[in-house]
Amino acid sequence: MDHKCNKPDYADIARYESSREGEHHHRGKSSESLLNKDAILSSLAITPGQTILDAGCGNGYMAKEFSRRVGNRGKVYALDPDEIAISTLRTEAQETNMLAMVGDITTTTHLPESAFDLVYLSTVFHGFSPEQIKGFEMEVKRLFSPHGKLAIVEIVNRVTPFGPALERRFSPEELQQVLGLTPLATVEVGEYFYMQIFGNRPGE
Ligand SMILES: C[S@@+](CC[C@H](N)C(=O)[O-])C[C@H]1O[C@@H](n2cnc3c(N)ncnc32)[C@H](O)[C@@H]1O
Repeated sequence: MDHKCNKPDYADIARYESSREGEHHHRGKSSESLLNKDAILSSLAITPGQTILDAGCGNGYMAKEFSRRVGNRGKVYALDPDEIAISTLRTEAQETNMLAMVGDITTTTHLPESAFDLVYLSTVFHGFSPEQIKGFEMEVKRLFSPHGKLAIVEIVNRVTPFGPALERRFSPEELQQVLGLTPLATVEVGEYFYMQIFGNRPGE
């Protein structure tokens, strides 16, 4: 893989994730320097007019990419429980097609039902408890448009120089087992990351 455009920043990597005494720390972390954005964006094939949710958006760097691609007719929602991150993003998003909201994607949110062409969740899923996974699946199904897709970016489930404890990680196959959605594709999106794309299960 060519990492020229995506050279890892090792200081960022050290900050990316830490696990202390079983606690899971997410706040203020960004995956930006660790992921191949071009691979992500080309696999997602975003088109003007789409409605996209960046769930657990952090600093919103991907929400901004989505915002440029969906254009004036589209809409991007950036959701995160971190009030400081959302407040900063809200200021940046003024008079754009992006709406930054405080919220928890593992519960019923204030986001519009059946509206989303894409729900994107990057380096968030491994922090969910089994109950949160159930809540997440229910909420994503509520938000999906009939042809909606879910894209989950996660760290690989093997030893890496950084990242959460191995027992918190999911391989693509494990993600496919825990979520009742149709797996569409698995894409390598960084030396240590993959993106699993799902569609709505037919008939639901
Ligand atoms: C490791 S950061 C990743 C941020 C961003 N997605 C990225 O790729 O850079 C994890 C983010 O998930 C958010 N988060 C944690 N639990 C969440 C939940 N239940 N619903 C929505 N976001 C959540 C955290 O506040 C944090 O901003």
